[in-house]
Amino acid sequence: MRTLLTPVTAEAAEFIHGGGIVAFPTETVYGLGANVFDAAAIARIFEAKRRPQDNPLIAHIGEIDQLDQLADEIPAFAWDLIDTFFPGPLTLVLKKRDDVPLLATAGLETIGVRMPRHELARNFLKACGTPVVAPSANLSGRPSPTTWQAVFEDLDGRIDCILQGEATEIGLESTVVDCSGERPVILRQGAVTREQLSLIVPETSLSSGDPETAKSPGMKHGHYSPAARVVLISAGESIDDSESSAFIGLNEPKDRFGFERVVDDLNDYGHSLFEFFRECDRKGLAAIYCEAVPEVGIGAALMDRLRRAAQG
Ligand code: TXA
Ligand code: MG
Repeated sequence: MRTLLTPVTAEAAEFIHGGGIVAFPTETVYGLGANVFDAAAIARIFEAKRRPQDNPLIAHIGEIDQLDQLADEIPAFAWDLIDTFFPGPLTLVLKKRDDVPLLATAGLETIGVRMPRHELARNFLKACGTPVVAPSANLSGRPSPTTWQAVFEDLDGRIDCILQGEATEIGLESTVVDCSGERPVILRQGAVTREQLSLIVPETSLSSGDPETAKSPGMKHGHYSPAARVVLISAGESIDDSESSAFIGLNEPKDRFGFERVVDDLNDYGHSLFEFFRECDRKGLAAIYCEAVPEVGIGAALMDRLRRAAQG
């Protein structure tokens, strides 16, 4: 299959109309999209990504009215979150409507819904004219793609089209909040922080994240890991094999690393992390030392991804 590269949303949306699968940028990471009501196209997403069948997809909407096509019985607290954080890097898990294919939700009676705020994403979704299910546009197990080139690296020849945009702003996947119960439960941390959610719904809690009982099936799969070994270190910690390794962190490292990146702040750390992982793999480095950060604001999501990457 030839993969078309284009910056034109109408051209990319044509493939969705025809049952194809298209990678597109959002403010978090690039997604790999299909029409939510086209089960055959959704099956192609799982195949192209080599994604486990038990991992549900997020439906992306370009206009708030499209929520009605996806979700039923939206509770008042979920509307408060929608009013505050849509469009943006927040996914809400809601009771799904009967006509949403079970293939999209991996057999669950709930569906994750998100309205990106990224301009190109929204133009693309509007041109598609239907909600678009999209997991991150990487091969399963690899770091999520934050550039169209990273999508190309993983999926060229496996998908119909890549909508070319800039490098994504946030660089970490959306916050996922389960709203199918009595109160919101954070299943995956992201740029919309626990502190921000609690200001709107004080009863918001954080899922224990226990992989055995995890409500978010994706969280039990090995994730976000480069081929290189990822090791968490504290600021100024000394390392033996630094010359042959990579470093990323907020502070100048104590040793000289073969490849290093000192980021400006927590936002820059999140923005840079996954592409840095990929660069290390392209260079064939064996180890990446990542400086731990305080778990406030985006730091909580960053530490979540770093711990998962360190688990391999
Ligand atoms: O920022 C993002 O969320 C990106 C962009 C493309 O929107 N998408 C993304 O999708 O990261 P994916 O498939 O890589 O991660 C989706 C996460 C998984 O952990 C999945 O298990 C969870 O959301 N999820 C999706 N639907 C769910 C549901 N109905 N119940 C519980 N968890 C769900
Ligand atoms: Mg993913």
